Amino acid sequence: MAILITNIKEIIQVEEKPKLKISGPGMQTLKTIKNGWLLIENDRIRDFGKMPFDEQQLKKYIQSSNIQHPTSSIQHPASNIQHPVTEIDATGKMVFPSFCDSHTHLVYAGSREIEYIDKIKGLSYEEIARRGGGILNSARRLHETSEEDLVAQALGRLREIMMLGTGAVEIKSGYGLTVEDELKMLRVIKKLKTLSPVTIVPTFLGAHALPAAYNGKQDEFVDMVINEMIPRVASEELADFIDVFCDRGFFTVTDTDRILNAGMKYGMRPKIHANELDYSGGIQIGVKYNALSVDHLEYTGMEEIQCLIGTETMPTVLPGAAFFLGMKSAPVRQMINAGLSVAMASDYNPGSSPSGNMQFILSMACIRYKMLPAEAIHAVTINGAYAMGLSDEYGSIARGKKANLFITCPIPTMEFMPYAYGSNKVDTVILNGNIVQ
Ligand code: NIG
Ligand code: FE
Repeated sequence: MAILITNIKEIIQVEEKPKLKISGPGMQTLKTIKNGWLLIENDRIRDFGKMPFDEQQLKKYIQSSNIQHPTSSIQHPASNIQHPVTEIDATGKMVFPSFCDSHTHLVYAGSREIEYIDKIKGLSYEEIARRGGGILNSARRLHETSEEDLVAQALGRLREIMMLGTGAVEIKSGYGLTVEDELKMLRVIKKLKTLSPVTIVPTFLGAHALPAAYNGKQDEFVDMVINEMIPRVASEELADFIDVFCDRGFFTVTDTDRILNAGMKYGMRPKIHANELDYSGGIQIGVKYNALSVDHLEYTGMEEIQCLIGTETMPTVLPGAAFFLGMKSAPVRQMINAGLSVAMASDYNPGSSPSGNMQFILSMACIRYKMLPAEAIHAVTINGAYAMGLSDEYGSIARGKKANLFITCPIPTMEFMPYAYGSNKVDTVILNGNIVQ
């Protein structure tokens, strides 16, 4: 099947020579095509260019293509010939690559708005955790909820973020805290991969919080993660990446070192929570293990920035969590000025960021982190794709890449996307070459 989009006001984030990530001053350059067309063949972006797109061109593409199974046959306006091509007239509208949300915890049971009230009254994230709220609260609920129910709840969230423009998402375990419940979460994530058109990347987060049963015995819990959880997760091939909440009050650098070392032996590359609550050493330990990303980063100084320079590790900032918890902003400007790449993700979870809306993340990137719209768009597309190991196929409009993109509502400029925060500017969603909304 094929989809031809014509009269596109502007195609955003076009790459002639695709890059795996965009760094430093390069983030200010965003290639676009004004008044364009884009052709999708099966699940791939076949080609794009500037209007006009004439009948002869379309014929040529059809003759040289594998377009065999039309789902619809439309009459091209320029002739009487029937084509196995769905045509979309995008007059006044723009095309963006789908958002790539590289950090979420969107499999969870219920919600935690009561803690949110405690937060409003002044309790900190750590105080709530110490009272048995926070991650332990979600773990309790997850334990009591069936796999079917967890799948149904998560599917609703996936559907919501898909309609807001997300086309690929990482989902972490971490509300299990026991071997069986961690496996249950990861099996739910595996099931979601078969049910949702959104591309899903699973991450094992065994060390997310210390369960009450291990109070005073953190070493024993870490032993259990290493000796029992990791081998089971690996043998069932349930996760691509391994995460640790390496921060003050959660897991130490020594714990993290042991867990990452064990995970790497089973082929799970790290993507870790680091420097959200303190200068925890999380960034350094992530870099030591060649983590694909280190995430949160509110407590990042020049030492941490220096440590990231020249590495393959993507600094990933989570504006939703910083906003929701009222924390200071990660020093994104300094990172980019130092030549680093930056990705931004939603951190969709019930405790610190109960929203997976990447359009809002895009707005916050500009308003709170002083990113230019071009930089912010790279952060939520190609750099997010990199932080999931997907940027060879996702995250930009390039020939041969996965046809994961959205058509906006009529908007005056590209900058209108971050500017008009709070409203949904996504009109049509195309994932894997299919119109899903
Ligand atoms: O990324 N920081 C650790 N984990 C999550 C919060 C999880 C929760 O509170 O349920 C985060 O913010
Ligand atoms: Fe997180």
